[in-house]
Amino acid sequence: MSGPLLEAAGLTRAFGGVLAVDGVDLAVERGTTLGVIGPNGAGKSTLFHLISGHLRADGGTLRLGDRRVERLSPQARARLGVAIVFQGARVFHGMTVVENVMVGAHATTGAGFVAAALRLPRHRREERSIAARAREAVRRVGLAEWADHPAEQLPLGRQRAVQLARALCGRPRLLLLDEPASGLRAAERERLAELIEDLRSEGVTMVLVEHDVGLVGRLADRVTVLDLGRVIAEGTPEAIRADPAVVRAYLGTAPPPAHVDGPA
Ligand SMILES: Nc1ncnc2c1ncn2[C@@H]1O[C@H](COP(=O)(O)OP(=O)(O)OP(=O)(O)O)[C@@H](O)[C@H]1O
Ligand SMILES: [Mg+2]
Repeated sequence: MSGPLLEAAGLTRAFGGVLAVDGVDLAVERGTTLGVIGPNGAGKSTLFHLISGHLRADGGTLRLGDRRVERLSPQARARLGVAIVFQGARVFHGMTVVENVMVGAHATTGAGFVAAALRLPRHRREERSIAARAREAVRRVGLAEWADHPAEQLPLGRQRAVQLARALCGRPRLLLLDEPASGLRAAERERLAELIEDLRSEGVTMVLVEHDVGLVGRLADRVTVLDLGRVIAEGTPEAIRADPAVVRAYLGTAPPPAHVDGPA
């Protein structure tokens, strides 16, 4: 199939009088990573939720391949291959790493929660294949040795990797990450960045929402910059770093910081 995997045109969402996302256009080519950056309150997470379906747009269109998806539920978008890691996402307590990853996979399989709850034969077959896929995803994010440990006992950086494995378990066409590195210590950020680099080199298509201009510059093929709900710049990481409008939006006159911490 030709054309971008994800394409938004004129996406708009207001909260009361605030236009959180104001006529945003973007495109993500297959196998590439789009970085979305912008200061606090720029509309990054709102845009993220419009793409995932957890918020409905007031206007505009959203295409996934040749499908219009802007009116579909988050579950329907998940079945079309959209996987998400929310800002500040936490693991489920009282479950192992693999169990945490399997919970996500149920959302995207045909049998779903009802069959799981009723323990239908179809569910038991699916359960075995999900378990195998979950272990594969856990290995892919470098957590094989922790697979059967309680997830909540892992350090925060590894918990983020669990979230990534959960998203990957459904073999998504599009992976959405909202500030996956926020709140992590330097060594954990580095490990997460390397993991995202690996996924990128394997050809996973991603949208990476971040505060950290340095991290996005390293991980993204293209960058879209939001400020007050609008796209103020779009281009390669190099072009974005040199863009005067981006510099102004971040700091007034000084160059953008290599790292700005988001909310915990
Ligand atoms: N559920 C909501 N109800 C009302 N206003 C909201 C809601 N969600 C977001 N907003 C407002 O929309 C604007 C964009 O918020 P959003 O969370 O998308 O920004 P962000 O770029 O993700 O910020 P951050 O970097 O802090 O995560 C802000 O003015 C925010 O206050
Ligand atoms: Mg946000």
